[in-house]
Amino acid sequence: MDLRIPRIAIVGANGYGLHHRHNIEPKRRAGALELVGLCDTAEIVESPDIPVGDTPVFDDYQRLLEATDPHIVIIATPPPTHLPIASAAMRHGADVYLEKPPVASLDEYELLYDVMVETGRAVQVGFQALGSHAFNALREAMEIGRLGTLEAVGVAGSWQRPDSYYRRSPWAGKREANGTLIADGALANPFAHASQEALAIAGDWPLDGEIELERLRCREGIEVDDTAVWRGVNKGGVSVTVAVTLCGERKLEGDIYVRGTEGEAWFEYPTDRLRLPGEDEPKQYGRTDLLDNLMLHRQRGVGLISGLRRAKTFTRVLERVLNDPVPRLVDEAHLKRVGDDPVTLLDGADAAVEAAARSGKLFSELSLPWG
Ligand SMILES: NC(=O)c1ccc[n+]([C@@H]2O[C@H](COP(=O)([O-])OP(=O)(O)OC[C@H]3O[C@@H](n4cnc5c(N)ncnc54)[C@H](O)[C@@H]3O)[C@@H](O)[C@H]2O)c1
Repeated sequence: MDLRIPRIAIVGANGYGLHHRHNIEPKRRAGALELVGLCDTAEIVESPDIPVGDTPVFDDYQRLLEATDPHIVIIATPPPTHLPIASAAMRHGADVYLEKPPVASLDEYELLYDVMVETGRAVQVGFQALGSHAFNALREAMEIGRLGTLEAVGVAGSWQRPDSYYRRSPWAGKREANGTLIADGALANPFAHASQEALAIAGDWPLDGEIELERLRCREGIEVDDTAVWRGVNKGGVSVTVAVTLCGERKLEGDIYVRGTEGEAWFEYPTDRLRLPGEDEPKQYGRTDLLDNLMLHRQRGVGLISGLRRAKTFTRVLERVLNDPVPRLVDEAHLKRVGDDPVTLLDGADAAVEAAARSGKLFSELSLPWG
């Protein structure tokens, strides 16, 4: 138990770090935490709702650690920097809120896990959808048998991204950067949550055997998937299929179909809406913030919702995706470009990811003209 007010530092204060700065501002004002330092290699972005004020600013995380002695370090830097920064923070005595994906390979996972065990610190991974109360309600319904025996979990996500998305950072849309695999594609980045959520709902078991993977790209200028599906069976015998696109005409936020022998549940993971078997309408649930959960873990020993161990199977999936070659380019005949900052649309991609998630089929098994 550590009842001190947590001293929090952020490494990677721009980009997604801005989200963390917004998230902690009301907690800071309420006196629930102290913001002791911000670190970024670039100039820190100012915003009226989250003024830097007299918060110490650093461009080197080692100096931040030495000067501020934080209790918790939030790390929202690009993935290849996660292992060294998180290791240094834990060796300095801090717990870590590490953005997803925590690391890029099982080797890196083992190194980070060892530092966590050796230092006795906590690592919360930024898979924020795991904090959903809909997730807990679904697990409870499964535990009391409302779905029967769990057979399959499928996720469908269909979003759009304009050309400017692939200019947002030097690693956007790249397979590797500075010799490190990064694979900034739909599966590895925006839909990382879809895979982690499916693996957790399927029981947090490791996958048994091969991961089947089909990745496609609809833009010449990128080296990664914008449309992809993977499938695997876990050691609990549950089939997991994740099918996503950034080229869908119709938006699917992230629909998870959870099929058991007695019924099917539907869970929209980004919005915390859940429909259990026998219900006509989905119910809206709330969410526990993962930083609050980490603070309660320190203060009162509450279990971590998204501890590093839980991300191990996800890391195996990510490693498979990252090591895959540059995906096949879809024939232009199936593509449309729309808007001033154009999005690329792939014919029927939304219906295809939905069908894959519901049936547990890969694109190549769905008789698609581009599959
Ligand atoms: N949880 C989510 O839903 C979610 C959403 C978006 C991004 N992310 C994750 O957040 C992380 C950051 O993503 P991003 O899109 O903001 O990336 P980004 O490339 O914009 O980098 C974020 C910031 O880190 C800084 N930075 C880079 N190397 C640094 C270093 N060594 N020390 C200090 N600062 C450094 C950059 O200057 C930048 O300001 C990634 O892991 C990403 O996957 C998570």
